[in-house]
Amino acid sequence: MIDSEKIASDFPILKRKINNNNLIYFDNAATSQKPIQVIESITNFYTSTNANIHRGVHTLSMEATNLYDRAKERVAEFINSTDSESIIFTRGTTESINLVAETWGRANLDENSEIVITELEHHSNIVPWQELIKETNSKLKYIPINNDGTLDLSNLDQIINSNTKLVSITHVSNGIGTINNIKNIIKQAKDVGAITLIDAAQSAPHMPIDVNDLECDFLAFSGHKLLAPTGIGVLYGNKKLLEEMPAYQKGGDMILEVTYQKSSWADVPFKFEAGTPNIAGAIGLKSAIEYLMNLSMAEIRNHEIEITEYAYEQMMNINGIEILGPENIDERAGLISFNIPGVHPHDLGTFLDSKGIAIRTGHHCAMPLIKKLGSHSSARASFYIYNTKKEIDKFITEINNSMKYFNHV
Ligand SMILES: Cc1ncc(COP(=O)(O)O)c(C=O)c1O
Repeated sequence: MIDSEKIASDFPILKRKINNNNLIYFDNAATSQKPIQVIESITNFYTSTNANIHRGVHTLSMEATNLYDRAKERVAEFINSTDSESIIFTRGTTESINLVAETWGRANLDENSEIVITELEHHSNIVPWQELIKETNSKLKYIPINNDGTLDLSNLDQIINSNTKLVSITHVSNGIGTINNIKNIIKQAKDVGAITLIDAAQSAPHMPIDVNDLECDFLAFSGHKLLAPTGIGVLYGNKKLLEEMPAYQKGGDMILEVTYQKSSWADVPFKFEAGTPNIAGAIGLKSAIEYLMNLSMAEIRNHEIEITEYAYEQMMNINGIEILGPENIDERAGLISFNIPGVHPHDLGTFLDSKGIAIRTGHHCAMPLIKKLGSHSSARASFYIYNTKKEIDKFITEINNSMKYFNHV
């Protein structure tokens, strides 16, 4: 069992008052807060170990290199990858997806190729493919959604067919919280010989991930949504594919040999990490993953089920509320996207902020999805390890107060 109040005491920012109220942070899908353990790991690095990696023979450089390499081992363990050489550090999910599009995509797609994504995607799993199909004359297809925001898989074998070269899908929708049955979709993609990419930005922080079991070719996530700093993220890749792929950015650290005429590339994963990486970020990520693994990812998911169901049941009693996304908690992550008639999401967000409650409002970088569901924006509350039922009680009370304030009731 997760003890959220004890966990919250590790997060200095949660002691802050916002507009004279205790901060209630329900914007975890945008970014998570950071525990003191992560903050200290970064401070310690800068105060006692700072040096560049993979190029020095002095003590600091060797210590920094060791920490950076151990961060990769931790990430591999976190997603059950057998090989830390399959782990590439990027700036985040967006860069991980762009890396695949610009290397594997450019090298492997032509006018006969189809890419399949879903109608649930974040912009970062739409826009790179829209650009890539222009360059390669390939085609982009969408797995549609049902009215409840789950995927409509009834025509999947027509959508994923022998022309499909890549299936790139989100594990969890950041807009409405749907959890996709990615294992089945990956299997269907593999049956036609397509490559698979999983956007795990909203799942890796909240539930166990096992790339061995999923058998996906690529998996991307961001450190900042799982207690780590911004500017560090992960691309896991099938090592054989990574070896065959062209390099991404070119420059220092990613080379084997350089002459004035030509260059050759270092082995995977260094081939994809040109320049000085975010060393402190990787060390923060290592510490964040250790924190999460210590709690157990299965327990984190259980905690989120408990508080999300608790919030959902009370929210359903709010007069006229529209909750987007699936009703069944097995298909919903710890995230509730909703609209209240007569109260614009931005007004609700501002009202809640005046009570110390941080939620997200808008299209959540999933503009086509929110439009497809008949809205321009929604309010979104997203939960994490430090959120409690007591906070949800206050959130429900203040939603009701906002309706009175805006004269809805
Ligand atoms: C599902 C999903 N994919 C991709 C991203 C992009 O992540 P980042 O901005 O960290 O690159 C996000 C961020 O909100 C997301 O929720």
